[in-house]
Amino acid sequence: MEKKRIEDNAYDLIREHASDILAHPTFRNLVRNKQHHNSNTYAHLLHVCVLAIKFARAWRWKVDAKVLVRSALLHDYYLYEWHDKPNRKKRHARRHGVYAADNAERDFGTGPEERKAIVNHMWPISPFHPPKTKEGWLVLFADKAASFRELFGILSAEDHYKKTPVKK
Ligand SMILES: [Fe+2]
Ligand SMILES: [Fe+2]
Repeated sequence: MEKKRIEDNAYDLIREHASDILAHPTFRNLVRNKQHHNSNTYAHLLHVCVLAIKFARAWRWKVDAKVLVRSALLHDYYLYEWHDKPNRKKRHARRHGVYAADNAERDFGTGPEERKAIVNHMWPISPFHPPKTKEGWLVLFADKAASFRELFGILSAEDHYKKTPVKK
């Protein structure tokens, strides 16, 4: 798809490119998984997606909007409770991008561009895997910013429920 500057509202773009994800029961169930202090994985994924779009628009970067929206929404789609030690997979911090990309391909048929952005979002914790695309850098920056805000309670999960683009 053509790369171009983003002009649209973040929630319009999410509806346009990710209605299938937002409607999927496994994705919606992520509301039960704790992410950071005061936040669940569902809220975190929406938070990151909205911020990634806002950064792209503010910086006037030319991007593939569909790849950006879908990789941001699925970057933590690893599908287990990471606070729960017996249940979490090995080397969670470094490897969860790979688990998320595998699940995203299985459930939503995401392609190689989404995979690159999802797998590399944990740099520099995974030091040999920095982002390789603009979409990847946007997901990474948005994830760091969103995680910081959630950790310190600057934006609560409640804010995201109110803004959820599809009706529950
Ligand atoms: Fe992550
Ligand atoms: Fe994240």
